[in-house]
Amino acid sequence: MIEQSPKLIHAFGALAELGQEVANKNNFQETIRTSLHLLSGALGIMRGGVARYSRYAREMNMLAIRGLGDEFPLSLSVCVEDERQFLTNGLNAIDAHAARVLPFFQVYAASFERRHIELFIPLIIRDEIVGGLFLGEKATGEPYSSYEKEIICAMGRHIGVAISQRNLLAEIERHSEENRRLFEDLRRTYADTVKAFATAIDCKDKYTEGHSVRVGKYTELIARELEWSPEQIEGAATAGYLHDVGKLTVERKIINAPYRINAKESAELNKHPSVGYEILQAIHHPFTDVPLAAKYHHERLDGRGYPDGLYDREIPYIAKVVNLADSFDAMTTDRPYKARRAAIDVVDDLRRNAGKQFAPELVIAFLRGVLRELKSETKDRRFRRLLGREYMEAEGLAPAITGALNELAPTSSLTYIAARSGSE
Ligand SMILES: [Fe+2]
Ligand SMILES: [Fe+2]
Repeated sequence: MIEQSPKLIHAFGALAELGQEVANKNNFQETIRTSLHLLSGALGIMRGGVARYSRYAREMNMLAIRGLGDEFPLSLSVCVEDERQFLTNGLNAIDAHAARVLPFFQVYAASFERRHIELFIPLIIRDEIVGGLFLGEKATGEPYSSYEKEIICAMGRHIGVAISQRNLLAEIERHSEENRRLFEDLRRTYADTVKAFATAIDCKDKYTEGHSVRVGKYTELIARELEWSPEQIEGAATAGYLHDVGKLTVERKIINAPYRINAKESAELNKHPSVGYEILQAIHHPFTDVPLAAKYHHERLDGRGYPDGLYDREIPYIAKVVNLADSFDAMTTDRPYKARRAAIDVVDDLRRNAGKQFAPELVIAFLRGVLRELKSETKDRRFRRLLGREYMEAEGLAPAITGALNELAPTSSLTYIAARSGSE
């Protein structure tokens, strides 16, 4: 034992290093290669290999080899009988010569003999085979002592843990990828359903065809202009698409009346925000503001809106965004009793009503978006597609927008740029 002491100390040093190597999970392949190197170095082993076990394929696949040459198989099959025996054996060294009764050692007898494989250690972690350690002869030519076998098994445990950790990580990654895909699918289904719903709402109203879909798109454009996050933009668009869902319960003849409706009919129609809220509140939305947008999209900053006559800060922000998109679409489309208004007229309306009906910063964001497209500062043609080319090319529209922007935010740097480009 005394003469073995330096060897023992060396082996334990290697074991400690190995533990550190395993803890450092950065490069799995490198960890395994280093482990094999440390193990062979510590005990003076000529050759060997570390394999990872694939339970599904029943294969030992080599991760690292040292001195085994090109002919040694890189993938070794394991049969049910071998698997059972390895599990019974546990993480203990198996003498390759003595284990000839097992199919594994019969099938690969020639390769093992050629490369002097003396020991095989099944790496078993938490009752599961995760890999295998193949070890050739020692440099001294002596047989392995029992204490050396113990050291090998201790090191084998470290390597097994590294493989097991790697397997777990791969499994977690696979699950999270699966979850991500499922979530993506759900999200797409939700978005498609929302759009289908918007189309259904619009079908009821033959005069304002496509209103909900357009409001969804305008709301999205405003949210983009405000530089909201992708989720917030999607949420805003959803709120826009569904804002008039309450109209589904309003009589068709009131919605489609080719004249200005009377007070009674108007009261009936004005229920649609509250009804919409009731409908949407029952659904679990990924975006919490959607029911609120439906309820308050007819409120005004000055408190003259409905259903609750809320004032500025009492109105949920998303409802202000939808209100602007909704009003803009109402002004820019033909109604049964009213033709669409000229573009310049609409800009003037937005300017005059900023602070009364609309939140000024939203009007600024909206007009800024239109102006950018008008001046071809963006490749987007969204407004053109929604409003028609001719409408967007109305004479004097760009200076009118610039003027409105100057008036709404005379001191901001944004206005400075707008004013400059307007004077070109
Ligand atoms: Fe509405
Ligand atoms: Fe609407």
